Amino acid sequence: GEPVAQERSIVLIGLPGAGKSAIGRRLAARMGLPFRDADVEIEAAAGLPITEIFARYGEPHFRDGERRVIARLLAGPPLVLATGGGAFMDPATRRAVTASGAMSVWLRARAPTLLRRVAGRDHRPMFHGRDPAAVLDGLITARHPIYTEAELIVDCTDEPPETTTRRVMAAI
Ligand code: S3P
Repeated sequence: GEPVAQERSIVLIGLPGAGKSAIGRRLAARMGLPFRDADVEIEAAAGLPITEIFARYGEPHFRDGERRVIARLLAGPPLVLATGGGAFMDPATRRAVTASGAMSVWLRARAPTLLRRVAGRDHRPMFHGRDPAAVLDGLITARHPIYTEAELIVDCTDEPPETTTRRVMAAI
């Protein structure tokens, strides 16, 4: 039959290190949709890397920009959107995802996998100067209950992004 055009945007959520950007890029290519990374869009809008936005203006300012950028992207044509790990914690962003008709997909990975992926990277201000395992534990406790509101949950512990991408494709 005729190929069915994907009319819904896909919004990838999950903790830092889950693979939202790597999987999002692959998913978009397979679905013939544009890919956007909310963190990259925020940096472009601010003209500053995220670490600098946090350092100069603070996290609340970053969250305001994040909320606006995501709302703008969801108002446009269908796309695959990778969000930062904190984005879905914002109630207005969760409402915007629902109202736009987008499908939220939680990429769920276990702590050791996430820890391995975030270790040694310094572009995430949440982890600066702190014990990464302790930060991650705190994020898991605070965020998993909210992430469960995602329309679809896909486990992605210890597997290459190609494998997870295929499993997301099969599930949507
Ligand atoms: C954040 C995650 C980051 C980025 C910012 C804050 C968070 O994105 O948005 O550093 O609160 O978890 P990734 O999830 O892509 O690391």
